[in-house]
Amino acid sequence: KIAGPCGLVIFGVTGDLSRKKLMPAVYDLANRGLLPPGFSLVGFARRDWEDQDFAQIVHDSVREHARTEFREEVWQQLAEGFRFVSGDFNDDLAFDNLRQTILDLDRVRGTGGNHAFYLSIPPRFFSDVIGQLKEHGLANPAEDSWRRVVVEKPFGSNLETARELNAIISDVFPSESVFRIDHYLGKETVQNILAMRFANAMFEPIWNSNYVDHVQITMAEDIGIGGRAGYYDGIGAARDVIQNHLIQLMALIAMEEPTAFDAKSLRLEKQKVLESVVLPRRLDLTTARGQYTEGWAGGVNVPGYKQEQDIPQNSRTETFAAITLHIESRRWAGVPFYIRTGKRLGRRVTEVAVVFKRAPHLPFGDTATEELTQNALVIRVQPDEGITMRFGSKVPGTAMEIRDVSMDFAYGGSFTESSPEAYERLILDVLLGEPPLFPRHEEVELSWKILDPIVEYWEKHGKPDTYEAGTWGPASADRMLARDGRVWRRP
Ligand code: BG6
Repeated sequence: KIAGPCGLVIFGVTGDLSRKKLMPAVYDLANRGLLPPGFSLVGFARRDWEDQDFAQIVHDSVREHARTEFREEVWQQLAEGFRFVSGDFNDDLAFDNLRQTILDLDRVRGTGGNHAFYLSIPPRFFSDVIGQLKEHGLANPAEDSWRRVVVEKPFGSNLETARELNAIISDVFPSESVFRIDHYLGKETVQNILAMRFANAMFEPIWNSNYVDHVQITMAEDIGIGGRAGYYDGIGAARDVIQNHLIQLMALIAMEEPTAFDAKSLRLEKQKVLESVVLPRRLDLTTARGQYTEGWAGGVNVPGYKQEQDIPQNSRTETFAAITLHIESRRWAGVPFYIRTGKRLGRRVTEVAVVFKRAPHLPFGDTATEELTQNALVIRVQPDEGITMRFGSKVPGTAMEIRDVSMDFAYGGSFTESSPEAYERLILDVLLGEPPLFPRHEEVELSWKILDPIVEYWEKHGKPDTYEAGTWGPASADRMLARDGRVWRRP
């Protein structure tokens, strides 16, 4: 589907996200022919730039980060719709300029009054920008046109601040015009969870506590905190990615079949899962957290978290978090969902492993099955996207010996189509006005309700354990599973 006449305004256009993801995604969409011919991109930031300086920045970012090939004619047509508005978020004149710029674009580019405002800025500025949009008449569409607002995480840092943030936004934009980005939902492999579960007959019958022993959700990163101290310190791994990406992944794995593949039905089912989550009583035994110390990443010696730029010496921020959740429903009663994430771990990998119970009876004798572990279905979110099924198979030979083997589906081997970047898909959906992939406020609140008690418990109880960079997290994370007689997968 191609977006109708419209434009996109990005606040915080000089930031990392904009340079690495948003601008390249806009170009890739144009290159795939999914944007309308008069599409316009307005950058808003404090820099004292002219339109051509902005165009140069977009050009550099596209050249460096775009997925698709650079084509001069696509670029030229797109670049004619670039405008830059310079100013502070509380500068009335700048918002007057923005208003005028948009009116001009409607006239010369035919954007039809349809504009999305992308807030790629720290949440402390949301209130200023949203207030300005309202005051300068930018939030209200004329008849037959639309105005939408796109917000990036963090959606608050706990339930209370998430509610405050939502009050600010919903005061100005009706809920159907608010698009909250969780870029994991834009990933091809994450959307495929629903296809796999609900387009096939063979998984759903075993997708419940009769057959599933437990589920492991892992998001491991090999990178450290880099230059992001300002955002990350005091926030930590759980709030950074468990509250949003990983709880969303869990909801997709656990939800019931939606009545239709539309926003309302999907969100309803996800919401039911989130409402059914309960925390174990002993948070000391069922969670773990850690902070990385100096170690090795990719053969290079790397500093510990406290040695990173601008991190205070007494920081208690966790860079690794593991938690246990239960879903109180007929389908999932007694099946723990173990979720872990960390920076500076052994390698970059995100996966969901559904681990099955052992066969009720093995007629081969103990020694034949010594090397047989539990069956598992592993959804490889990234990299090396695909799905693996692990099961036991007879080792060739005269004896009956059974060992794990795996059966693999890899995107590269089955499809010639390339996956769009998550942000491409999400930006296009904003422009099309298609909300299924955007969490609604209720989901955000419910996720905070799940996480808040854990984070509060951690804050009250000492500091994180440590783990050496390049390893798989603190020993406490292994103990957490060992207590349940289980082990983490080594992806
Ligand atoms: C972001 C987090 O939401 O996701 C980052 O704030 C993290 O800390 C990033 O590095 C990971 O995204 P991806 O798509 O590379 O897995």
